[in-house]
Amino acid sequence: MGRDVNVFRARGHAVLMISITVNGQALTAPEIPTSMTLLDFLREHGLTGAKEGCAEGECGACSVLVARPGQDTPTEWVAVNSCLIPAAAVDRQEVVTAEGLGTPEVLHPVQYLMASIGGSQCGYCTPGFVCSMAAEYYRGARNRHTTSAPGDAARTSDRAGDDRMTGQNGFDIHALSGNLCRCTGYRPIQDAAFALGWPEDDDWLARRRSAPAPTPTATDISDGDSRFVRATTLDAALRLLHDNRDVTIVAGCTDWGVQVNIRGERATLTLAVDQVPEMRELRQTSDYIEIGSALTLTEIERLLRGRIPLLACLWPQFASRLIRNRATLGGNIGTGSPIGDALPALLALEATVCLVGHDGERDVPIADYFTGYRTSVRATDELIRAIRVPLPLASTATFYKIAKRRFDDISSVAVAIALEIRDGIVEKARIGLGGVADRPIRALRTESLLTGSPWTTDSVDAASQVMCHEAAPLSDHRASAAYRTEMLTQSLHRLYAEMMEGELV
Ligand SMILES: Cc1cc2nc3c(=O)[nH]c(=O)nc-3n(C[C@H](O)[C@H](O)[C@H](O)COP(=O)(O)OP(=O)(O)OC[C@H]3O[C@@H](n4cnc5c(N)ncnc54)[C@H](O)[C@@H]3O)c2cc1C
Ligand code: FES
Ligand code: FES
Repeated sequence: MGRDVNVFRARGHAVLMISITVNGQALTAPEIPTSMTLLDFLREHGLTGAKEGCAEGECGACSVLVARPGQDTPTEWVAVNSCLIPAAAVDRQEVVTAEGLGTPEVLHPVQYLMASIGGSQCGYCTPGFVCSMAAEYYRGARNRHTTSAPGDAARTSDRAGDDRMTGQNGFDIHALSGNLCRCTGYRPIQDAAFALGWPEDDDWLARRRSAPAPTPTATDISDGDSRFVRATTLDAALRLLHDNRDVTIVAGCTDWGVQVNIRGERATLTLAVDQVPEMRELRQTSDYIEIGSALTLTEIERLLRGRIPLLACLWPQFASRLIRNRATLGGNIGTGSPIGDALPALLALEATVCLVGHDGERDVPIADYFTGYRTSVRATDELIRAIRVPLPLASTATFYKIAKRRFDDISSVAVAIALEIRDGIVEKARIGLGGVADRPIRALRTESLLTGSPWTTDSVDAASQVMCHEAAPLSDHRASAAYRTEMLTQSLHRLYAEMMEGELV
């Protein structure tokens, strides 16, 4: 038990008091349901800026900022969907809501620009937008992408007609990709974002970045019917799994939140592993790159800095920045969805899943990991500790996500391809497919046909004909079986065309 944690007795159970520092002030609750989301916690404390739009991570009306360990500064302000996160998961952490950014008398720069440039009309989405925008405003690496001094509103409007994704102030507009607005048409919101300057010296949120992030503390709360435990060591997590049955593991909670809010699921015992240090490391040896299962996708993207090009193709196509700020690779594998986007990529990379249990660790090739629809070889008392990507990597790699929208949508089909082509001959081919079977699969017959073949249109034609028969996809509301099959046929042709046009190296 943490030294600074109060213990209450309620309904015969030990209840640790949840305490979250919100806008610089500790908000406590002696007894809350373990399934209570951070959004509900905030609103029950009168902080009604964050709104519930969808309750499933799609609209961003609930965005708030959380202090997390940073890569450019000791602490980073990260925007997250508060509707998806259990309040208990941010116990002893620091949160900032729209109310904490500024006041009606002294607006924060993002609030001032949103208001003065017309980025807010009905205002329902605005608190969420300003939180996502503030996270990007404080992102340490933003100045590295700056092309000139930030423009004022008028200059920004002049250039906003183009489709550039990064403002001259280094603002990545995809920071707002998880926020929806029904009123503005987005143009004034983009103008406000691209007009932002840099934090002043006396800005407390900017200064907070120089101090260490809140330390992970163990949390163990119970509301009578259920218990929520956040482990801070691997040993503690494994002991809990070993000693209890029916434990629901959570990391980023982006799947958990949807199950709780939309499907009404309630777990008896929830174990949060997102702060277990042994699951949050990224290291490279001469043989592999090992990625901790509890690192968020944003953290992995920034730590790798393009070292695994296939994953670099994947990140922008995986949900929104808000989701990637919480979602983990362990969670994507743990969910085991046949349309999980990281899975075809990990298949093409021949990754290994490092499973750890009470009796030690074992490594399972991802190709052997899934046994059926959302089932796997993982024992109930095992955790996914890390994912290992063997080196060297194939010299040509790509990831195609076929979905109704280009960004922030669920795949109909996903195809990951890794090829080693030397002197015009395919020496090695690895192809991962998602959305075409009950689990993510390798296109084994296509791989074997391509191996040893010249990389020519004839070979690509022949391989594509085999690839479209690698699986018997189903029709559903996302796509018909015929469409999915056609997309398989197209993907090798697309890669070939892109290589001929020099789009891939
Ligand atoms: C709006 C929205 C958009 C999304 N878009 C995409 C998308 O584009 N592509 C995509 O693939 N997914 C998408 N998802 C799904 C989800 O974000 C991903 O599956 C994500 O990787 C889950 O990670 P998490 O850490 O949040 O999982 P959690 O919700 O914390 O956990 C999910 C499951 O994984 C298990 N688990 C988690 N960590 C471990 C571990 N270390 N060991 C063992 N089991 C573990 C848990 O038991 C749980 O069943 C989206 C979700 C939302 C809400
Ligand atoms: S309420 Fe829509 S993302 Fe949270
Ligand atoms: S201003 Fe109305 S939804 Fe955005």
